[in-house]
Amino acid sequence: MKGVPLAVLFFLCVPIFVGAQVKPSAAGRLGVSIIPQPEQLKWNPKSGTVLRLNGNSRILTEGRCPDSLATLWQQYARSIWKQKKCSTKANLFKSPDPIHLSTSAQMGAEGYSMEAGNGRLSIVAGDPDGMYYAFVTLQQILEQHPDGQLPAFQIIDRPRFSWRGMHLDVCRHFFTVDEIKRYLDLLARYKMNRFHWHLTEDQGWRLEVPALPRLTEVGAWRKETLVGRPVSLMRYDGIRYGGYYSRKDIQEVVRYAAERHIVVVPEIEMPGHALAALSAHPELSCMGGPFEPATHWGVFDDVFCAGKDTVFRFLETVLTEVVSLFPGEWVHIGGDECPKKRWEACPDCRNRMQEEGLADAHELQSYFIRRIEQFLGAKGRKLIGWDEILEGGLAPDATVMSWRGTEGGIAAARAGHDAVMSPGQPCYFDHYQAQPDSLEPLAICCFNSLSAVYDYEPIPHELNLTEALHILGAQGNVWTEYMPDFDQVTYMAMPRMPALAEVLWSPPQTRHYPGFLQRLKVESLWLDRRGYRYARHFFDQL
Ligand code: ACM
Ligand code: ZN
Repeated sequence: MKGVPLAVLFFLCVPIFVGAQVKPSAAGRLGVSIIPQPEQLKWNPKSGTVLRLNGNSRILTEGRCPDSLATLWQQYARSIWKQKKCSTKANLFKSPDPIHLSTSAQMGAEGYSMEAGNGRLSIVAGDPDGMYYAFVTLQQILEQHPDGQLPAFQIIDRPRFSWRGMHLDVCRHFFTVDEIKRYLDLLARYKMNRFHWHLTEDQGWRLEVPALPRLTEVGAWRKETLVGRPVSLMRYDGIRYGGYYSRKDIQEVVRYAAERHIVVVPEIEMPGHALAALSAHPELSCMGGPFEPATHWGVFDDVFCAGKDTVFRFLETVLTEVVSLFPGEWVHIGGDECPKKRWEACPDCRNRMQEEGLADAHELQSYFIRRIEQFLGAKGRKLIGWDEILEGGLAPDATVMSWRGTEGGIAAARAGHDAVMSPGQPCYFDHYQAQPDSLEPLAICCFNSLSAVYDYEPIPHELNLTEALHILGAQGNVWTEYMPDFDQVTYMAMPRMPALAEVLWSPPQTRHYPGFLQRLKVESLWLDRRGYRYARHFFDQL
């Protein structure tokens, strides 16, 4: 800690974990159960108790630990003290052992080691992220040892990938700030570090932009919603639906995520999936409207006009707001599923193609994305988009999110661009997770089992070692056409999220599906305790 070589802080009222205790039988058999599985874990129950932690355990920080570490532990201690009082049962021993924190670059980005022995718990972290992840691991350990008495153990841990993402579509259905926080709690628990927040769509614009009030006055509300599937049945509920996030809401979510070492990646869809924006500003389309936010799902022909400069001025206003609200490195600009029908017929778009010497509408899309990338680059941000941004030529510094299979990620990596893998199979968690699907809640289609997610290898075998370095990681996507409430979101995301988290964090040689299922059983007690709804099919596989 700066200026204070040895600071003593109070932390850890062990009984907060009492509510999430694991039955001794489950924890006993496993020794200890951690998700995602650490890179190295030595757990030695034969040593007997070598470490005693409780609410009076001191935190000792040493060396050049950043202030944020002390703050993190203090905040956590405060939240503990507020939630639960120490029970006398867990405070049987009067002089608990201290927790000793230090940092060392040797542990690497996001890495840490944790060792119990010699009358203290020693944590060495590569950076503040690593210290946070040590703390997340410690939390899982103490849940299973709520008396705070631990045997000798040693953990050395660091993530395999830097992009460990989860996405959430809040446009097809809307989720409150409290629900978003509950979602972020799950990401944090499994050491996921990117929250891709899909904020704009045909069916609703969810981001307040004070300079463009119609976006949320008009674009955040649809007059009704499709019931069931397929779209061709045309059954609607007749209920006005919508919602949006104020600046304050966004700031609250960004702050909450940052405390959990999660970067929020906002997505503003362009040039397609823009019907809600066009409902508020029909002059930004090729044909002029009028439009309404969509009431069913799909791909719509009316998109932002690529020929009108007013469109770029509008998007620059929106992105200026986005950049001011979201401090993260990346801005996701969508780029997927943009039909070219209107552009081909639009005089402004045709003029643009002629003036810029663009051969076809794909090159016009590429022009669109490059122009936006230049704007974001000037603001110090990186553009990321769905793999359609490859069509017609990739913008110079763009990162590609590969969703239509792995080809987009492969092409990007071969061209020297970074890529995040999110192929429909198995990374779309809006797909069914069990068969027969007739017994499952209605989902959009397809089948992505828990074991398929667990077996996923993010680096396509087609890439050589140098190209593979461009694969930043992977991401689970949760599109919410068929998820009308937050319970349904967690049902679809859980437990596929921790399966993907383990793919992204743990070394491949530590992965073992039957062992993962055992740990998931332990984890289910925490999920039950926290009131999360989740799919329980894995119990049948155990
Ligand atoms: C997508 O699923 N349309 C990216
Ligand atoms: Zn046009």
